[in-house]
Amino acid sequence: MNKLKFVSYMSVQAQTLRDTDIEELLFNAREKNRRLAITGVLLLIQGKFIQYIEGYEEDIDELYGSIKADPRHNDILLLDSGYIDKRQYTNWSMAYKKVRNSEIKNILGYTELKLDELFLSPPEEKTHPVLKVLYNFTHSLSA
Ligand SMILES: Cc1cc2nc3c(=O)[nH]c(=O)nc-3n(C[C@H](O)[C@H](O)[C@H](O)COP(=O)(O)O)c2cc1C
Repeated sequence: MNKLKFVSYMSVQAQTLRDTDIEELLFNAREKNRRLAITGVLLLIQGKFIQYIEGYEEDIDELYGSIKADPRHNDILLLDSGYIDKRQYTNWSMAYKKVRNSEIKNILGYTELKLDELFLSPPEEKTHPVLKVLYNFTHSLSA
């Protein structure tokens, strides 16, 4: 059975990527995602990546395996994963946004995401502040 699955994780940039590095990463990722019918979103916040990917289970497991081994980031923390009935990002092979501090403040009510502290404690399902930022961005896409 080829079930639809999603994975969401947070990681730390290995080094500050230039805009051209990000463009190259996105160009390749979008090409491969289109080929595998993988959709999702990538956020860059205060030097941390937050990504949500969705697609058929086998493809998602394989891609997440490649992503975990990618030297462009470290300290990968799984935020949430599971099965879904339908996609959230039908139109996006990989939406991308660099999130500013002012936007974080609008969403969370405070500027400092304190991601380093978040890495120390295991995320609580659905209540993780980072997921809040992610879902807020999702709604702005579908609005
Ligand atoms: C933050 C981050 C997000 C990534 N997202 C994707 C993605 O959505 N799709 C993808 O194919 N590769 C993505 N990659 C690249 C993968 O880690 C890996 O390089 C790529 O899938 C290798 O594909 P290939 O072995 O088929 O060339 C991402 C890498 C990083 C660092």
